[in-house]
Amino acid sequence: MKRIGMLTSGGDCQALNAAMRGVAKTLFNSGEAVEIYGFLDGYKGLIYGKFRMLTGMDFSGILTKGGTILGSSRTPFKQMRDPDENGLNKVEAMKQNYYKLQLDCLVILGGNGTHKTANLLKDEGLNVITLPKTIDNDLWGTDMTFGFQSAVDIATTAIDNIHTTAASHGRVFIVEVMGHKVGFLTLNAGMAGGADIILIPEIPYDIDKVIEAIQKRHARGSRFTILAVAEGAMSKDDAKLSKKEYKKKMENYPYPSVSYEIADQIQKKSGMEVRVTVPGHTQRGGSPCPYDRVFASRLGSEAGRLILKGEYGFMVGYKNREIVKVPLEDVAGKLKTVDPGSSIVKEAKMLGISFGD
Ligand code: F6P
Repeated sequence: MKRIGMLTSGGDCQALNAAMRGVAKTLFNSGEAVEIYGFLDGYKGLIYGKFRMLTGMDFSGILTKGGTILGSSRTPFKQMRDPDENGLNKVEAMKQNYYKLQLDCLVILGGNGTHKTANLLKDEGLNVITLPKTIDNDLWGTDMTFGFQSAVDIATTAIDNIHTTAASHGRVFIVEVMGHKVGFLTLNAGMAGGADIILIPEIPYDIDKVIEAIQKRHARGSRFTILAVAEGAMSKDDAKLSKKEYKKKMENYPYPSVSYEIADQIQKKSGMEVRVTVPGHTQRGGSPCPYDRVFASRLGSEAGRLILKGEYGFMVGYKNREIVKVPLEDVAGKLKTVDPGSSIVKEAKMLGISFGD
């Protein structure tokens, strides 16, 4: 008999359900007796003992369903060792609930913060297997995370739709793309959507270079320009600031986000009309794309296989076109970012895309 606990933590994304279904189907099809307990709303469910037993029916019909059947929440890693408002030791509480249910393993689906806590639980002696979810694709140890390709599709559609209206009005348009502190989503959606300028955190921009790129296009006869701007994009000046100085600047920041600052600067310096579109959380919503359905199912299946073999302490990832297991301690606390010298950036530049650098 295998008893498995499952939870989804952090910001949701597409294909979380597909991944859990992959784990469950593999376990149920193995012929071994299996019980699966789903903890509700991320680590909160594990801390406060909120769970329900999941049967085959719970995993039926969810391959195409966005969100997570278990619910999710953000439980910051930094506060994991702090007692809650009633003095509860959260780490001890999670361990007690694990032992009370006599679990063989916890399957944890999440991004960066989630992996730090998963590694902590592993260090505390629990058996853990993780799966890499995030639209940001910023997890160390895997070339790809599920949710990413679906979000690329949605952000690309946003840029596609802006194209026609931008052309009609001869305006400059900024589409702000999610991705937290990294630029994978913006780079890929920007290239897929034919953006003229792509601004990502890993390549700080100079606003004068951005305006120069727009003016060059207009001098060549283009009526409009589209910028794909990462929500974490940074100017060269801001990139030089220390963490403390940057925090101070942000305290009195007059814009809702960096895209509005860039729009304001372009308008003031060049007199061009600029509009900003922020697709925001739509990028995390809806049905997973076919790639993510297949990818998440494969990762889930491999997680099931590892559980059946009793191999714990790994994230199931993807390297060089193969599904692989990566030790949790190699993943936790590291960020994967776009390499400004990578071939995709070079190719984008050769296509005439400006990074404002
Ligand atoms: O990590 C996924 C992500 O969607 C980021 O791209 C974004 O910065 C963040 O989560 C938004 O978080 P929240 O849903 O908590 O506002």
